Amino acid sequence: MSPPHRETPESQAAGLMTVEMISGLLASTDPRELGEKLTEQLRELTGARTVLLIAHRAGNAAAELLHACPARRATLFPAEELALFCPEQTPEPLPRRSEELPPDHPLRAALARAGVQSLLRFPLRAGGEPLGTLLLLDLPVLDRMDDAVKAVTLLSPPMALALRNALARQQIEKQAREIQRYAAELEQLVRGRTAELARSNAELEQFAYVASHDLQEPLRMVSSYVQLLAHRYQDKLDSDANEFIAFAVDGAKRMQALINDLLSFSRVGTRGKPFEPTDCGLALDCALDNLRVAIEESGATVIRAPLPTVAGDATQLTELFQNLIGNAVKFRRPQEPPRVEVAAERRAGEWLFSVRDNGIGLDMRFAERIFMIFQRLHTRREYPGTGIGLAMCKKIVERHGGRIWVESAPGKGATFYFTIPASA
Ligand SMILES: Nc1ncnc2c1ncn2[C@@H]1O[C@H](COP(=O)(O)OP(=O)(O)O)[C@@H](O)[C@H]1O
Ligand SMILES: [Mg+2]
Repeated sequence: MSPPHRETPESQAAGLMTVEMISGLLASTDPRELGEKLTEQLRELTGARTVLLIAHRAGNAAAELLHACPARRATLFPAEELALFCPEQTPEPLPRRSEELPPDHPLRAALARAGVQSLLRFPLRAGGEPLGTLLLLDLPVLDRMDDAVKAVTLLSPPMALALRNALARQQIEKQAREIQRYAAELEQLVRGRTAELARSNAELEQFAYVASHDLQEPLRMVSSYVQLLAHRYQDKLDSDANEFIAFAVDGAKRMQALINDLLSFSRVGTRGKPFEPTDCGLALDCALDNLRVAIEESGATVIRAPLPTVAGDATQLTELFQNLIGNAVKFRRPQEPPRVEVAAERRAGEWLFSVRDNGIGLDMRFAERIFMIFQRLHTRREYPGTGIGLAMCKKIVERHGGRIWVESAPGKGATFYFTIPASA
C-alpha cells in the first residue's frame, strides 16, 4: 500500500522543478550555462521579474554575475553593489520589501536606484562554503510567495552542489588548459635545445675532425725531421742535445697518438656504418684478437658468457669491447693476474652488458669524469694512455641508443655496464 497522497506546499512547488530539471542542472559543466537554466526555471516557477545568480569564487571576495534572467537585466547592479548581496557582506535576513530595509542599510540605495520593490535572497552553500547567491527580484503577489520560498529553500542545496560542480569543472578545465600550454611551451623549448645541441655537437665533431686532420700534416713533418736529427746527429752533439732530441721525438709521438685518437673520436658520429644485425660474440672475438699480446703478456683470463645479436655497427662494437677489456687488463693490480668477465643480460627492451675486472678500481667520485675526453686519473708514467678510450665508448654506446656507466670502489675492481636496445 502506498502512503496516502498528501499535497504539501513544498511538494507542489518542488514538483514544478522536476527531478529531470535538477539532474539536468547537476550535469551542467559550464557555470554560465547552469546560470542560464537555473535563472530561467526559477523565473518561471516564481513569476519574479528578474532572477540573478551571483557566484562567489573561493578565496575571492568579489562577486560575479553568472546570469540574469531576462538577460537585459544583467546591468541592474554594478559589481560593487552585487557584492553587497552576498551573505558574507550583509549577513542579516533581508525583508521582502525594499522599503522595509533600514534607511542606512547599504542595499537600500542600490535597490532604490534599480527600482526594485521586493526581493528574495537564497544563499547557496556547499559544505559550509559560500558559493553563490540567488536573487529573485520584483515578485508578484508577494503575500502568497511562501510556497515558492519554501520550494526554493528546499532546492538550494542541490542547486549549490550543481554550482560547485560547474565552478570546479571550470577551474579544472582552466588548469588543464594552462598545463597544456606549459607542456607545449616546454616541448618547444626542449625541441629548440635538442636542435641546438645537435648543431653544436655536429660543429664540435667537425672542428675535432678538421683540427686533427689538418694538424697531422705539419706534425708528420716535425716528427720526421726530429727523427732524422736523432738519426744523423746521435752522439755527434753533446749529451744535452741527445736528451733534447729524445724529448722532441717523444713529444711528437705523443701528439701523433693524441691526434689519431681525436680523429677516431670525431669519426664515431660521422663515419659510422649503418646498423646491421651484429653478433656481439663475434665483435668480442675481434676485440680479443686485437688485444692478444696485452692479454698474453699480463696473463689475463677472459671469461665470457654468450652474447646476443643486436642492431649495430660491428667495427664500433669491436672498438667498444676492445677499449673496455683493454682498460680492464691495463688497470690491473700489481700482484694479481687480471681476470675479466664479459656478460649480457636481457632487460625490458634492451640488453645490459657488463665488463667486470679485478683491477685497481676507482673512486665513484670520478665515475662521470672518466667518460670525458682526455680525462684520466693517472699519470702516463703509471699507466700509459691518452684518456680518450671511455669517451669513445660513451659515444659509440649513445650512437647505438644506449647508456654506459661504471660501478667500482678503489682496490675492488670495476664493472662497466652498457645497454643496447634489443632488436625486436
Ligand atoms: N677498468 C678500469 N679500472 C680502473 N680505472 C679505469 C678502468 N677503466 C678506465 N679507468 C679510469 O678511467 C680513465 C679513462 O679511461 P680511458 O678513457 O680508457 O683512457 P686511458 O685508457 O687512455 O687512460 C683511466 O685513465 C682510468 O683512470
Ligand atoms: Mg683506455
